[in-house]
Amino acid sequence: MSDYYDDHDSGAPTEPSSVASPTGPNNREPPPPVEENGRLYHPRGRYHFPSDQAEKDRLNLQHEAWLLTFNGELGLCPKIREMGHNVLDIGTGTGVWAIDYALKHKGSMVTGLDITGHPSPGPMNYKLEVDDCEDQDWQWLGNIDFVFARAMTGCFETMEYIVDQAKFHLRPNGWLEIQGLEGLCLRLFTQQLNWTREQVLEFCSRARQQLKDRNIHAYLPM
Ligand SMILES: C[S@@+](CC[C@H](N)C(=O)[O-])C[C@H]1O[C@@H](n2cnc3c(N)ncnc32)[C@H](O)[C@@H]1O
Repeated sequence: MSDYYDDHDSGAPTEPSSVASPTGPNNREPPPPVEENGRLYHPRGRYHFPSDQAEKDRLNLQHEAWLLTFNGELGLCPKIREMGHNVLDIGTGTGVWAIDYALKHKGSMVTGLDITGHPSPGPMNYKLEVDDCEDQDWQWLGNIDFVFARAMTGCFETMEYIVDQAKFHLRPNGWLEIQGLEGLCLRLFTQQLNWTREQVLEFCSRARQQLKDRNIHAYLPM
């Protein structure tokens, strides 16, 4: 995880934003968590991972693993290096990815959307919105340049709604990047991109080969 106060480029110094300053029209107060078996959980819905400090630590550590996997980059699509102005991170968790992106691209506005909403200090161009991304049209976000979703397998009733919203609200030349698992790719790429099952499996197989290529990627014992 990047140090929030670590200036990533030679742009203007980053001022801290107020922690979690929600502005979306549908923004909600994060519901109080429920305690079960010594862990805290979101009180309703389909999301079954905890939402406590141990989970936040896990998400932040997992972010490091993603960075190692992608050779220090935040992802693969062109909007990782070339700035997206209006960026949406669906299911932002601790906001660790969104905050890193905002720090790297200070001219961007990055919205982290999450049903739980963990307030994290971030730069002025990062904001947290607490809402269920399946509950509403994303119109209030305006035209989006880059939609990012990571580790969201099993979070949604239907992934089609998410992809449709992204397609509808992305500007021309906008990008949707989903980082996840083969099962998710199979459903999405066959239904939305009309790939065959074999094409998707070959794609995933090539991705796995590259993940194992130690000339490209670094690994740490965890
Ligand atoms: C496994 S975490 C991934 C967090 C983050 N994307 C990352 O890679 O660090 C999934 C996150 O999605 C959020 N989430 C689950 N269902 C959601 C929904 N329908 N709308 C918005 N956020 C959701 C959860 O609260 C949780 O923070």
